[in-house]
Amino acid sequence: MTAPVQTDDVVIARAPAKINLHLGVGPLRSDGYHELATVFCALSLTDELVAVEAERLRITTTGEGAADVPEGPTNLACRAASMLAERAGIAPEVELSVRKQIPVAAGLAGGSADAAAALVACDALWQTGAGRDDLVQIAAALGSDVVFSLTGGLALGTGRGELLSPVLAAGRWHWVLAVADGGLSTKDVYAELDRLRDGRDVERTLELPDDLMNALRSRDTAALGAALHNDMEPAAFSLKPALRRTKAAGLDEGASGALLCGSGPTMAFLARGEKQAVDLAARISGLGVCRTVRTAHGPVQGARVVG
Ligand code: C5P
Repeated sequence: MTAPVQTDDVVIARAPAKINLHLGVGPLRSDGYHELATVFCALSLTDELVAVEAERLRITTTGEGAADVPEGPTNLACRAASMLAERAGIAPEVELSVRKQIPVAAGLAGGSADAAAALVACDALWQTGAGRDDLVQIAAALGSDVVFSLTGGLALGTGRGELLSPVLAAGRWHWVLAVADGGLSTKDVYAELDRLRDGRDVERTLELPDDLMNALRSRDTAALGAALHNDMEPAAFSLKPALRRTKAAGLDEGASGALLCGSGPTMAFLARGEKQAVDLAARISGLGVCRTVRTAHGPVQGARVVG
């Protein structure tokens, strides 16, 4: 018989989606990853995770794209819980329930958000006493974007994306996310980028553009729109040619800028404010150039316990 759950044994956490305002992809390293220079921005679109004490590690996922999320030990949130438990020297006796709002395999780091939420939730549930550095170390081992999902805000990412330093810029930006039908595998998009580059020298893409930093500091929407850049676009467009039309359609409708989210296939459009974002979302939705649209603002904070 299952023992009744006590409310003290339940922790709720939330973690944000992310976009990259700049994504410079350098050469392929010997470990199979690419060197990056990127600017991450955490968005108000979040996944929620509930952690409850249980006899063994289990996960269930509901909501946006839940059917495409693995339920077994390969699930990134399960792996996060296992790694934290191992470090703490305890058994991972927890049931994780994830309520997804972040589209799956969309380039928005939804899986990384769930892993980061699992880390902070299980840390609170088990009172592991792990420090911030311990959680960051586990996050980096789980995936390139998990450290940012934990940290949130606006940050410069180097290495394979796991080495972060904060970007100081005030204000809030409004976005429309055009989510494509079907996902893209991050690995496949990087491989396509390598194929298209055909061994050409790419060192220079790792310089961060001053125009982006200046636009963020001056809170200039038009300048930010013009400075958005993602080296992955040619590769994602090559694998999913319809994305070119999505990008052009949003710009035609008055977006201040547009770029592919991470390795795609979601396209992000910058709006001048909240109201324009809602209008733009409605118009893009009506054009039939994507599966669904979302509005979101950023930067917002990283994974956190909310109850
Ligand atoms: O770290 P993560 O598991 O998210 O990466 C998924 C895949 O994306 C990696 O196996 C690698 O092929 C590719 N990748 C890369 N360079 C990065 C990040 C990811 O080549 N900086």
